Amino acid sequence: MKKEVKLSKSKWLVEPGCVVLVTSGTMEKANVMTFSWQTPVNTADPCLILLVISHARYSYELIKQNRQLVINVPGEQLLEQVHFVGVVTGREIDKFKESGLTPVPAKIVEPPLIIECAGHLECRVAEIFEMQTHDLLICEVVRALAEEDLFDGKWIPEKFHTLHYLRGNKYGLMTRTIQAEGRK
Ligand SMILES: Cc1cc2nc3c(=O)[nH]c(=O)nc-3n(C[C@H](O)[C@H](O)[C@H](O)COP(=O)(O)O)c2cc1C
Repeated sequence: MKKEVKLSKSKWLVEPGCVVLVTSGTMEKANVMTFSWQTPVNTADPCLILLVISHARYSYELIKQNRQLVINVPGEQLLEQVHFVGVVTGREIDKFKESGLTPVPAKIVEPPLIIECAGHLECRVAEIFEMQTHDLLICEVVRALAEEDLFDGKWIPEKFHTLHYLRGNKYGLMTRTIQAEGRK
């Protein structure tokens, strides 16, 4: 039997993953925040990724200044850091210092990569669509990097567990590959 879900809670049925850490600002003045509202929006080159960001975020102020950001992919071992930088604002503290995450220079954009993450997408913000409480950032990927042992054209769940947001302080893990019998 299926139960009715309040419309205001219905997003939790499709809350996606994987959770990512987005860095903004510059090497000298960097910030990091957690995102789960992210999705690719095309299959062409350049790749475009949509991020949905609240107007209230300090990261949003920084992103609007240089229209650059890095999408970093954390694994299970960064769970505590992922949650921490998703519940405190960089307006008041240096989240890199407090979380132990390490910023390193990117190649093309000003915000840093996070060395502890297994993948990185350096992005320029191509377009911003204004909405009521959140804006839509269309991010053009200008450089992509992934750990070669963990990524063979896709993440290898037997070796690298991406985090998928459930609700509150709960996360799910992608831990194994299954294969459909149908054609590729
Ligand atoms: C798992 C998780 C996912 C989140 N996803 C988003 C998101 O997609 N968009 C958003 O605007 N905020 C999201 N947040 C909230 C921000 O990460 C949080 O408000 C953060 O403290 C903002 O930091 P800042 O003010 O330093 O930019 C998420 C938080 C968590 C814990």
